[in-house]
Amino acid sequence: MEMMQLGKTPLKVSRIALGCMRLSENKADAMASIKAALDAGINLFDHADIYGRGARETMFANIWDEVPGLRSRIILQSKCGIRSAGSPEPSSPHRYDFSYEHIVRSVEGSLSRLKTDYLDVLLLHRPDVLMEPAEVARAFDELRRAGKVRYFGVSNHTSHQMAVLQQALDQPLVANQLLLGLLHSELFEQGVRLSSRPVMRNVRGDGTLEHCWLNGVTIQAWSPLSSGAVTGNLPASAEPHVVQTAEVVAELAAARGVSKEAIALGWLLRHPAGILPIIGTMNPARIRASCEATEVQMSREEWYRLFIASRGEDIP
Ligand SMILES: NC(=O)c1ccc[n+]([C@@H]2O[C@H](COP(=O)([O-])OP(=O)(O)OC[C@H]3O[C@@H](n4cnc5c(N)ncnc54)[C@H](OP(=O)(O)O)[C@@H]3O)[C@@H](O)[C@H]2O)c1
Repeated sequence: MEMMQLGKTPLKVSRIALGCMRLSENKADAMASIKAALDAGINLFDHADIYGRGARETMFANIWDEVPGLRSRIILQSKCGIRSAGSPEPSSPHRYDFSYEHIVRSVEGSLSRLKTDYLDVLLLHRPDVLMEPAEVARAFDELRRAGKVRYFGVSNHTSHQMAVLQQALDQPLVANQLLLGLLHSELFEQGVRLSSRPVMRNVRGDGTLEHCWLNGVTIQAWSPLSSGAVTGNLPASAEPHVVQTAEVVAELAAARGVSKEAIALGWLLRHPAGILPIIGTMNPARIRASCEATEVQMSREEWYRLFIASRGEDIP
């Protein structure tokens, strides 16, 4: 497994991480998924306080008994900031909460469920419209000084939201976890659409990719396989560009003698910004197939064939 530096930290992480959102409720199955990832060289595991309402973190902690001495060999990342409707009051709405109290309480909960003294990385899950940067900075400082969190980042944040938060912090944000893959390539799309006719279609993003790249913030790509749609797990209602993308992925995989996962993830790895896919499969064979991606050195021609197929039309 190829390794990379995470943001401006000394942490060396695998080029592919395992997302634990879909970790099985069956202990044997869950442990098999984690062990398959470890055997394939994955050392970065992504969690969130809300995955399974905490149950995924609790399940993950069983790995400490199964693989002694593992804690110091892996990088544990979790997220906070999303709160469910009905908590704590029945009338409480679904909301985002970057208050000092919620961030600190959430980390305490994750540490207790994960049975660990520290998180390597904490991400703010989705931007809180009511964020007070100084308040977040206080929570981060306190958590870092207490040794409970080593590094901090964000998820689903635009470049400007990152900048507003960053100016209050005395440590660099190390990661931004974003929806990114062959079927969600708006971050790339924006870059090729600037001078094109018809007038730029509505694309998300505001130079977020370039902002992260420029500032040494690792972009982590969530749902990189779109639930397997790009590797052939096509919904009956799949649009033509999705079908076409899956066909090109299959063709390139066959031509190179690698898995379809390796092609779809290799497409992300090929970007020079150093994008880190967070895979969500819990199937050991698919985890292994995904990790083949680090051996694919995708050509420019292959990359653009996939890009054009996925956008459903030629580039300008
Ligand atoms: N920051 C955020 O807001 C955010 C949001 C969502 C997710 N995430 C993170 O990103 C991680 C990955 O997300 P994701 O799970 O949506 O990623 P994904 O890799 O796009 O999808 C994984 C899902 O697709 C299924 N799948 C993949 N290939 C398949 C195939 N060929 N046939 C049938 N099913 C297939 C997997 O089932 P099998 O297990 O059976 O392979 C699994 O249910 C999560 O675990 C989480 O850590 C972050």
